[in-house]
Amino acid sequence: MAEPIKNPSILLIVGGGIAAYKSLELIRLLRAAEVEVRVVLTKAGAQFVTPLSLASLSGNKVYEDLFSLTDETEMGHIELSRQADLVVMAPATADLLAKAAQGHANDLASTLLLASDKTALAAPAMNWRMFTHPATQRNLARLRTDGMFFIGPNDGAMACGEFGPGRMAEPVEIFDAIQTALNRTKRTDLHDELCQDLAGRKMIITAGPTHEPIDPVRYLANRSSGKQGYAIARAAQAAGAEVVLISGPVSLVAPPGVGFVGVETAREMAAAVEVALPCDIFIAAAAVADWRVEADSDQKIKKGSEGPPLLRLTENPDILAGVARRVENRPPLVVGFAAETENLIEHARQKRMRKGCDVIVANDVSPAAGVMGGDDNTMVIVDAESETVWPKLSKEDAARRLVAHLGRILAKRS
Ligand SMILES: Cc1cc2nc3c(=O)[nH]c(=O)nc-3n(C[C@H](O)[C@H](O)[C@H](O)COP(=O)(O)O)c2cc1C
Repeated sequence: MAEPIKNPSILLIVGGGIAAYKSLELIRLLRAAEVEVRVVLTKAGAQFVTPLSLASLSGNKVYEDLFSLTDETEMGHIELSRQADLVVMAPATADLLAKAAQGHANDLASTLLLASDKTALAAPAMNWRMFTHPATQRNLARLRTDGMFFIGPNDGAMACGEFGPGRMAEPVEIFDAIQTALNRTKRTDLHDELCQDLAGRKMIITAGPTHEPIDPVRYLANRSSGKQGYAIARAAQAAGAEVVLISGPVSLVAPPGVGFVGVETAREMAAAVEVALPCDIFIAAAAVADWRVEADSDQKIKKGSEGPPLLRLTENPDILAGVARRVENRPPLVVGFAAETENLIEHARQKRMRKGCDVIVANDVSPAAGVMGGDDNTMVIVDAESETVWPKLSKEDAARRLVAHLGRILAKRS
């Protein structure tokens, strides 16, 4: 591992988005950690935060103009980009990203990005429709290929009143990513650490419960809400992967831009997985019913004199084991979920061996843990070498962390 950079210096480009106010807090965190910060404020950025606030917090002059005689004599724009150890864009607006992807150089920010020979880290921030628009996704994919790193965006409530992916990562998250970037001068190390690079990778994710019919109006089900699987699908998409989400019946909206297949039963889910394969990462987050009714009735079963019907159950296909034990087209990374109410780690370890998968994500689903249907999750990651307990996180944060973790494993294997 490379030595951390001494007296690091950041060039921070602040674009024209509502999230620009968060860049003030980011500068405060960086300055407290003794990181030198020079700010470039775009014309649109200046509509949201003032140069005075940025200069006061950074303790440095704020640069706004490409054609400024004073700035050019003080420090040429090329020099400004070269002096920094890292270029950070926060907020990285759709417009800034588009310009960077196209190689435009028609203002100070875009010219600096093009003239820079340093690693660039962007924190995208925009309305979710802008973020999921094919044009923005194309630009992000292009920039990832060109070597730009990304932190976020997160899912969440937006200033425009809508909800979805596009909310800028929190200042502390960007700060952490900057520290990671500064402590890794070797690009390959940095790539492993900040791996959001699932561009060109395909992920199949199953989510939700399955409904197993008893008759046309009744079914066997479980309490899975699908929230964790959907959050993983969003995180995988944000990391650049092509995502196919195969979901049992839930009351969630399919994430925009994700390939979506809705199913009811375990057998339908197994068939949909078969159609969607091959892929690079298969994540079985669905709570697939272990059993179905052997002979479900075509007609509604009537309450009669014979008393309650006896339901004979039969086993459903084991989708996870089926994918993990494939000879042809076995995905390089097969991940299962273990929902347990006792002996979490031991059961997860046994499940991993039994199913033949690479990683098991274990959850305590006892009612006291509140995971089923809740918004938080405590994941335990069980692989061939170790068991790691992650702290309690929101399902969104847990999903992002899991996707980054799996991305790193995949990058090491290929
Ligand atoms: C109130 C308001 C909020 C905006 N917020 C965003 C935003 O969060 N993200 C974004 O990409 N564009 C946003 N825009 C549009 C950008 O400001 C606009 O595309 C601008 O040209 C971006 O300039 P830049 O390249 O300097 O960032 C917003 C515009 C307005 C009027």
